[in-house]
Amino acid sequence: MSKSILLVSFMVVQLIASAQPLLLSKQSIIPKPVSVVDAKGSFNLTEKSIIYYEGESPEIQQVGNYLASKLNPSTRFGIVVRSNSVAQTPGNIYLSLKPGDAQLGDEGYQLVISKETVILTANKPSGLFNGVQTLRQLFPANIESAVPQEGSWEIPAGTVRDFPEYAFRGVMLDVARHFFQVSDVKRTIDLMAAYKMNVMHLHLSDDQGWRIEIKKWPKLTAIGGITQVDGEKGGFYTQDQYVEIVKYAAERQVMIIPEIDMPGHTNAALASYPELNCNDRAPELYTGTKVGFSTLCTSKEITYQFIKDVFSELAAITPGPYLHIGGDESHATKIEDYLPFEVKVQEIVASTGKQVIGWDEIALSTMKPNTVVQFWAKAENAQKGVKQGAKVIMSPAAKAYVDMQYHAKTKLGLHWAGYVEVDTGYNWDPATLVPGIGRENILGIEAPLWSETITNMDEIEYMVFPRLPGYAEIGWSTPASRNWNEYKVRLGNHADRFKAMQIDYYPSKLVPWLGSSKK
Ligand code: ACM
Repeated sequence: MSKSILLVSFMVVQLIASAQPLLLSKQSIIPKPVSVVDAKGSFNLTEKSIIYYEGESPEIQQVGNYLASKLNPSTRFGIVVRSNSVAQTPGNIYLSLKPGDAQLGDEGYQLVISKETVILTANKPSGLFNGVQTLRQLFPANIESAVPQEGSWEIPAGTVRDFPEYAFRGVMLDVARHFFQVSDVKRTIDLMAAYKMNVMHLHLSDDQGWRIEIKKWPKLTAIGGITQVDGEKGGFYTQDQYVEIVKYAAERQVMIIPEIDMPGHTNAALASYPELNCNDRAPELYTGTKVGFSTLCTSKEITYQFIKDVFSELAAITPGPYLHIGGDESHATKIEDYLPFEVKVQEIVASTGKQVIGWDEIALSTMKPNTVVQFWAKAENAQKGVKQGAKVIMSPAAKAYVDMQYHAKTKLGLHWAGYVEVDTGYNWDPATLVPGIGRENILGIEAPLWSETITNMDEIEYMVFPRLPGYAEIGWSTPASRNWNEYKVRLGNHADRFKAMQIDYYPSKLVPWLGSSKK
């Protein structure tokens, strides 16, 4: 074929492509919505568009402000947010609470896009927030850019009705092995919220560091917070900074769950206060990555005073219902000491008005009726929890640990639970993974990022992306609607979104990345 024929055929293909109408049902929405119905035409966002919210609720206004903050940097439209309950006028986006749509529940939403308007309704502000995440994904990817972009901001008409499979869809950040700045925690919250994940579990203490100010026990941070893995400078959050993180998360419909791991994983506390040790001697600060060598002295009264003070201060600055007590890998604690210890700690947490979450080992002990088990390692532990009536958070290490290497050659991460390529992370169903643990026993899922080898935000992003959208979909979408071969195409279509959001992701060979794909 001559060059000119090639060129002409290329142009014809282009023309046909551009003549195709945009279809809502063909958009690569992650997590996959419950239902998408196409309609004719499309909506155009312009410099005249306004975001109206119905009612005076500060939370709805906040969702409106959040949406404007996502649309304005790239479009430069300066879209404003106004309260309005009068007639709808063309060109605008409407957010309104319409309680009473039982199917949508607390977090579901309905998004109706026509040539004239975008109308988002939900029972609760969290539903509106989730609808806003879908709306973001319908615009061309460069809507996500932090700097001005040229483009036409058109989205296909139709209706999305959507609600989650599980109420608990989490990420865990280990800020103990390596400490991460408040700004890094905030960025991680932003990225997970974009995929409708709603829980950030902060692993605030471990052998290598204590990362939260406790006013009654100041040496925890003054001594226990100063180092991290490899002996580098550590750090900690003041209670004011923690409150700032909680508020930032709440504005993105994300709940913070603080974890203080015990009785093992406590070297930083033991190094700070000799009296927490059975021999009254403080060990050295620890900067390696071994586990299972430390324990609080379970026979001392002061230990329980310490635990009460710590959880009371944390409960006072944590609006969510949960405190996480760790409980994993306490190999230095005798089992006959471990079992009553876990009962006592559950009682202490209950006295603060909060509910306990613990790693699956705590199910070896007697559990309070509302204690939640986080399955990570041993199915039989989680099964023991369920037999005691506990609800389960599913974080199977071999599937959901985002500190696992993608494959043998990826530089970051560990592989004691195996390699977790993007398909391995996606291809499992929480409700059928462990015999005896079914849908009705499961609160939701969580993808933990342990940080033995992770030192900065770029590395967080590389480990979390592109696996996170998959966990988001497992948590949100029905198992029947999920299929790796179909999902990987949608995921590949998020490449230019990741780029616009400046996410440093792992470009898995299993995913057909569309570098500069047009929607
Ligand atoms: C854990 O990974 N030790 C919970």
